[in-house]
Amino acid sequence: MIGGDGTGPEVAREGVKVLKAVAALEGIDYELKEFDYGGDRYLATGEVLPEGALEELATFDAILLGAIGHPEVAPGILERGLLLEIRFRFDQYINLRPVKLFPGVETPLAGKGPEDIDFVVVRENTEDLYCGMGGFLKKGTPDEVAVQTAIYTRKGCERCIRWAFEYTRRRNRKKRLTLVAKTNVLTYGHDLWWRAFQEVAREYPDIEADYNHVDACCMWMVKNPEYYDVIVTTNMFGDIITDLGGIIQGGMGVAAGGNINPEPGGTSMFEPMGGSAPKYTGRGVINPIAAISATAMLLEHAGYPAAAGRIMKAIQIVTGTKMKSQAAGRMGYSTTEVGDLVCEQLTAD
Ligand code: IPM
Ligand code: MN
Repeated sequence: MIGGDGTGPEVAREGVKVLKAVAALEGIDYELKEFDYGGDRYLATGEVLPEGALEELATFDAILLGAIGHPEVAPGILERGLLLEIRFRFDQYINLRPVKLFPGVETPLAGKGPEDIDFVVVRENTEDLYCGMGGFLKKGTPDEVAVQTAIYTRKGCERCIRWAFEYTRRRNRKKRLTLVAKTNVLTYGHDLWWRAFQEVAREYPDIEADYNHVDACCMWMVKNPEYYDVIVTTNMFGDIITDLGGIIQGGMGVAAGGNINPEPGGTSMFEPMGGSAPKYTGRGVINPIAAISATAMLLEHAGYPAAAGRIMKAIQIVTGTKMKSQAAGRMGYSTTEVGDLVCEQLTAD
């Protein structure tokens, strides 16, 4: 567990509380170690991840991350030094982001309910504009040029697309996989994605291989979210559309994601999407549902679907029948009480 900054440790702790409870019920053995990486440590030591940190993390199956983001640390340092570093170094090439409206949770979409908002975004997680390729020319002068390059590789898009087809088949719902890209403008990079998608689709005749431009996708996610089953998309577009997804599923207190290395022996990382929300730190008002749901994703990935199912069911009882709101400070319960409520419901039938 890397609690991280701000309210990160508070929500991660509730995830671990639920993990402990469900592990007892399901007879799951696990070892837990807490790491203090984050903004405070960086300010004290000048390094984000100390020497040997990645080597040690690599010995774990999974990481539960609370949040990173510290008001006294310049933007980018912790993001690049911790979050993106772990995603890249552990080749966590799938960023899995379920967009599911739980019962009792308010969505800003008029007339839409839990039966309409239930899809999953598979975001490529190692390439695109995130690779940090680029530079400045004549920096600080009126003639300044800035270049930021999007890298797409055949291997990178194909492995993500194939995983998304497999996932769509396993999910066994509408059996529709929508590629979201911008082939009409990104005529090289997204042409590569398009060709890889068409080729891999031939291996999955039982799955509808669908395509949306990213701008149209934003419109449909708001107007007809029920259309979607699984979306596969590039890193940058996936970043943007999953914030839209997060808000239609009830906000950042609810949305969770998994950074997955699907290969044997890979180390994956699961996280609530909410950020560190520094102003709420230590007040016991932040919503732990996303962190608890990230814990369920972790267990699902680790091969414990029954435990994950128990947590997801318990979460939905708690959102549907207990919590007043998903907003920080308006839940009707404190952070730890919400964690306790989920634990109580793990044995519900
Ligand atoms: C996310 C975040 C990160 C991203 C930031 C913090 C680097 O927005 O996980 O979606 O852009 O991937
Ligand atoms: Mn994002």
